[in-house]
Amino acid sequence: MTATTRLTTPFGARATAAEILAGVDITGRRMIVTGGSSGIGRETVRALAGAGAEVTVATRDPGQAADLVKEFAGPGPGSVRAAAIDLADLSSVDAFVAAWEGPLHALVANAGVMAVPTRRLTAQGWELQLATNYLGHFALARGLRDNLRAAGSARVVVLSSGAQLRRAFDFDDPHFERQPYEPWPAYFQSKTADVLLVVGIARRWAADGITANAANPGYIMTKLQRYLEHDTLRAFGVTIDEAGNHTVPDYYKSPAQGAGTSVLLAASPLLEGVTGGYFEGNQEAAIVPGGPDALAGVAQHAVDPAAADRLWSYAERVLASR
Ligand SMILES: NC(=O)c1ccc[n+]([C@@H]2O[C@H](COP(=O)([O-])OP(=O)(O)OC[C@H]3O[C@@H](n4cnc5c(N)ncnc54)[C@H](OP(=O)(O)O)[C@@H]3O)[C@@H](O)[C@H]2O)c1
Repeated sequence: MTATTRLTTPFGARATAAEILAGVDITGRRMIVTGGSSGIGRETVRALAGAGAEVTVATRDPGQAADLVKEFAGPGPGSVRAAAIDLADLSSVDAFVAAWEGPLHALVANAGVMAVPTRRLTAQGWELQLATNYLGHFALARGLRDNLRAAGSARVVVLSSGAQLRRAFDFDDPHFERQPYEPWPAYFQSKTADVLLVVGIARRWAADGITANAANPGYIMTKLQRYLEHDTLRAFGVTIDEAGNHTVPDYYKSPAQGAGTSVLLAASPLLEGVTGGYFEGNQEAAIVPGGPDALAGVAQHAVDPAAADRLWSYAERVLASR
C-alpha cells in the first residue's frame, strides 16, 4: 500500500474484535498470539477462537490462560491452548519454535512491555524493551517462517503504537550502552522497530504467501501501564481516586475494542494480500513526518525500506552473535 492507495474498511475505531469478525469463519486456521493471556492479547484470542481458529496463547505463564482454554474447551470449532515462551530469552523462543509442528496461518506478535523504569538487560545483554517487543518477535517470526509458508497463505501481525511517531531506530546505540537510559525513548524505539519488522517481512516473504501488517490499538488501560507513576497516568488523562481506583477518559478503548485492529489484520478477508501496512482506528494510516507533535499516522522513519533492511541485517547479526 502507498500513501495514495490506503486501504479503508467499514469499521469504526471503536469496533470490537467480535464485531470485526462477525460472519467470518476461520475454522481450522492455526494461530499464535504472544502475550495472549492478558489485555488486548486476551481479547484477540477470544475473538479468533470465537471465529473458529485453533489459537495458541504464547505466554510466560500458561496457567494465566487456563480460563481461556476452558472457555473454548467445548464442542465448537474454535479452541485455545497455552504454551510457554519468554520473548526476552532467546533459548525460550528457540524451544517454542522447536516444539511447533505443522502450518501456522497467523502469528500475532502482541506481547510487550512499556517504559521499564531502569535499564534492564536480558541474558543476551540486550535492553529489555527492545529484546521483548522486537528482537524476541523477530526471532520467533523467523523461526516459524517455514510453518507460515506451509499454510499457503499466512499473516504476521505486529502490535506497534503511536509511540513509533516519536523516535527513529537508533542504530548507533540501540541498547543505551553509551547514552543515558530513558524509559520512554526505549519504548518508542522498540515500537518503531515493530513497524520496520513488518516492512522487512513484506519485502522478503511475499513469495512464500506471507503478509505482515502493524497495528496501533489506541489507548487501553491494561497491565502495560504497570510501571507508570500516578503523575504519569494523570498526564495521560487518567483520574485516580483516594482508594487508587482508575477512571479513564472517553478516548480510551476497552481491551475488546483495542483487539479489533489485531483481528482485522489477522483474519479479516478485507486484508487478503495486503502487506507492509500500519493500521490505526481500523484504517490504514497515512505516512507522516513523525516527531514530538505528531498525533496520528505512521512516521516516515518507521516505514523507510532502507531502515527496514538495515534493521533486518542488524537483528540477524545480533541473533547470530549471542
Ligand atoms: N494498552 C495500550 O494502550 C497500548 C497502546 C499501544 C500499543 N499497545 C501494545 O499492545 C500490546 C499488548 O499490550 P496490552 O496493553 O494488552 O498490555 P498487557 O496486558 O500488559 O499485555 C502484554 C503481554 O505481554 C506479555 N509479556 C511481557 N513480557 C513478555 C515476555 N518477556 N515474554 C512473553 N510475554 C511477555 C505479558 O505477559 P505477563 O502477563 O507474563 O507479564 C502480557 O501478557 C503491546 O505490544 C503494547 O505495546 C498497547
